[in-house]
Amino acid sequence: MEKVVLITGASSGIGLHTAKLFQVKNWKVAATMRRPDEAAALRQIADIECFRLDVTEPDSIREAISATLGKWGRIDAVVNNAGFAVVGPFEAASQSEIERQIETNVYGVMNVCREILPYFRERSRGIIVNVASMGGRITFPLYSIYHASKWAVEGFSEALQYEVKDFGIKIKIIEPGPIKTDFYDRSMSISRKEGLTAYDNFVARTMPNLQHAGETGPDGSVVAETIFRAVTDESSKMRYPVNSRLILAARRLLPDRLFLPVIRRAVVK
Ligand SMILES: NC(=O)c1ccc[n+]([C@@H]2O[C@H](COP(=O)([O-])OP(=O)(O)OC[C@H]3O[C@@H](n4cnc5c(N)ncnc54)[C@H](OP(=O)(O)O)[C@@H]3O)[C@@H](O)[C@H]2O)c1
Repeated sequence: MEKVVLITGASSGIGLHTAKLFQVKNWKVAATMRRPDEAAALRQIADIECFRLDVTEPDSIREAISATLGKWGRIDAVVNNAGFAVVGPFEAASQSEIERQIETNVYGVMNVCREILPYFRERSRGIIVNVASMGGRITFPLYSIYHASKWAVEGFSEALQYEVKDFGIKIKIIEPGPIKTDFYDRSMSISRKEGLTAYDNFVARTMPNLQHAGETGPDGSVVAETIFRAVTDESSKMRYPVNSRLILAARRLLPDRLFLPVIRRAVVK
């Protein structure tokens, strides 16, 4: 029996690569996104269906799950990939930007989990893959709100795995380092506050280095491969770093007084 995966944020980047990889591996793929009408090329691919799903709209999540079950009669894995970044000095961010960040990156993941868990529980199996970030374990300046969202995904996922293990449900966390996608472009919301110039010099010394890391990173296919492994390796492993192994190892080994200055020197020039 062929298996079925539902992926959020499959319109570009990591989500799009993941949808295509699962299809190549003979899975049926519910590639969900906010604007499926714009995914003409993806819709041409056999065994990929594009359904509308905005992670901030629980109705759309229910409808996409139900459409997937209607089409293929089962869901074996869900990949919570949708996300974006609010970037800039914390002081420059408006309350509504912060809320949108948390609503998408944190509540979005929780919303999808809440909708799929009853189904997985009933089947006594299922895998939820949450695409967090290496930024859910370490931090960089100008990403404070994004980090808050990804640290939340890490904590949420780790706690949830205890609760659902006995129902045969696994929670996996993917921790990508910099990956070249639309993340560093259209998916980035830059915070600016009128009259606030105190951080301009710091932003000018920092932002290009952070952008450079993204623009020179590998493409989303490396993350897609890792997501596929997380879904299929049958292991009880929970965290999967991608292009982030070294820095996460350093974080584990070094105390703050050594680790934080290294990061500062690397990104604030
Ligand atoms: N690129 C990196 O360096 C990196 C590193 C670590 C973690 N990540 C994480 O990887 C995930 C995917 O990002 P990416 O790098 O592939 O960037 P991307 O190409 O910009 O993809 C982001 C996806 O999220 C979707 N999305 C945003 N808000 C949504 C919402 N409310 N409902 C449904 N979909 C929504 C976007 O859809 P639209 O087309 O509708 O905008 C897009 O499909 C994100 O969670 C990101 O935080 C990325």
